[in-house]
Amino acid sequence: MKATDQTTDQKGFLVLDFGSQLTQLIARRLRELGFYSEIHPFHYPLEKIKAMKPLGIILSGGPNSVYEEEAPHRNVKELLTEAPLLGICYGMQLIAHELGGKVEKAQSKEYGFNRVTWKSVSGGENLLSQLGQSDQKVWMSHGDIVHSPPEGCAVAALSESQHIAAYLGTKILGVQFHPEVAHTQKGEEILKYFTMGMCGAKPNWKAPQIVDHLKEKILQQVGSSDHVLCGLSGGVDSSVVATLLTKTLGPDRVHCVFVNNGLLRKNEYENVLASYKAIGLNVKGVDASTAFLSALKGLTDPEAKRKAIGRVFIEVFEASLDPKWPIQWLAQGTLYPDVIESVSFKGGPSHKIKSHHNVGGLPEKMRLKLVEPVRELFKDEVRQIGLELGLPKDMIGRHPFPGPGLAIRVMGEVTEESLAILREADHIFISKLREKGLYDQIWQAFCVLLPVKTVGVQGDGRTYAQVLSLRAVTSSDGMTADWYPFTFDFLREVSNEITNKVHAINRVVYDVTSKPPGTIEWE
Ligand code: XMP
Repeated sequence: MKATDQTTDQKGFLVLDFGSQLTQLIARRLRELGFYSEIHPFHYPLEKIKAMKPLGIILSGGPNSVYEEEAPHRNVKELLTEAPLLGICYGMQLIAHELGGKVEKAQSKEYGFNRVTWKSVSGGENLLSQLGQSDQKVWMSHGDIVHSPPEGCAVAALSESQHIAAYLGTKILGVQFHPEVAHTQKGEEILKYFTMGMCGAKPNWKAPQIVDHLKEKILQQVGSSDHVLCGLSGGVDSSVVATLLTKTLGPDRVHCVFVNNGLLRKNEYENVLASYKAIGLNVKGVDASTAFLSALKGLTDPEAKRKAIGRVFIEVFEASLDPKWPIQWLAQGTLYPDVIESVSFKGGPSHKIKSHHNVGGLPEKMRLKLVEPVRELFKDEVRQIGLELGLPKDMIGRHPFPGPGLAIRVMGEVTEESLAILREADHIFISKLREKGLYDQIWQAFCVLLPVKTVGVQGDGRTYAQVLSLRAVTSSDGMTADWYPFTFDFLREVSNEITNKVHAINRVVYDVTSKPPGTIEWE
């Protein structure tokens, strides 16, 4: 079945962003339920909505009051002719405001947890049976309230302060709370009621269908004879992109290059290259360690190191291309969060578009067109389709690893000796995490070699050796992070093993800084 085989050629759900911090979460929840969803700014043109033919439209929350002059408005009547509407928080207030209801300032604001009570209203029987209870613990954050619901809608739930917590009509559901957050009990049931009950949608956005859909799009875009170039980093995104392209176009038309920049972890280049070959990629390994190391000589500033690595990478990548390859396309692992245009009310709509030009400048110079097969997907979906494509679990579950690699984990100048020390220590730390079953609970774990020497005593002798910091964080997207609470026993074991086996290190510390104020990497 194709992902587009819904009841018609309708594609999925449209989430209109009115400036909430939670908008991405709405789209992710819908996708977890098996529905394709797209986020667009609140002013997304009506013609584009008509062309998309959404199954339902969700109006997100937002920081404004509908009465503020600069508040984002939208002609809700027009939207209603296109599909059923779900209004969340500000979205709920806007629908009421635009369709004959009334919104006002609340005497008592409702922030955080609240308990709402559902009533039985005409047409709402299925909602109640979906919830299985009339009482629901929810998460709210609002200063305005809907005093009277829009025309044609009935009050369906009240909060503890007896404010309207939900209203319902044939094609409209408004909720004052946030069903998309995990703190809202049965939030998923509310979303199911809207998507399946009110919009009649059937879940069809699951890994096998997503793979079919992406393959079809690749074929449409790349055509039947063009060739694609794909830079591999060892990470999940580029591995999935290369595998997807290879399975769609065949290995003869997908030319992959994996560069060893000499900044990878212990045995990483050999192991990753072997697994790429094992999964059938047409990959050329290029060992350019020496070129990178000489470019890094004498550099201590983190940004100078990054720039040097980026520059050499492009040179090496370009030099590695076989002139006989008839390439027209360059593949990139751009993800959906990088292409969403999010709304900024301070300076107008902001285009948060980050390009992944790991091979910056190359597309223009070589006149290559870009193919970005996973640009519709969130990271967890990329992992799912990686498994669906048969990639090994350890490749899918790998911690993110920065492009500049160990160069930004050796503080100060990067030398062959310092890299060797860091590699050994890092290998001990990561092996211990795997041995204790902790690896998958952690977003990223690594060691940082400090340019500091301290006095120690090892055996009978005094030592003067380097300090190493362990870093391990939990995170859902790398934007914020918290340090992982290892047990003292675990830290003791790792520290002992490192100081016993890596003689250049006589002191191990653990970094207990979250992000913010720290960053995940030290440089
Ligand atoms: P920070 O250190 O900014 O890192 O909290 C957030 C995430 O980005 C990774 N990172 C990089 N990735 N090139 C990359 O490809 C870089 O220069 C770079 N710097 C940081 C970091 O490992 C973490 O996952």
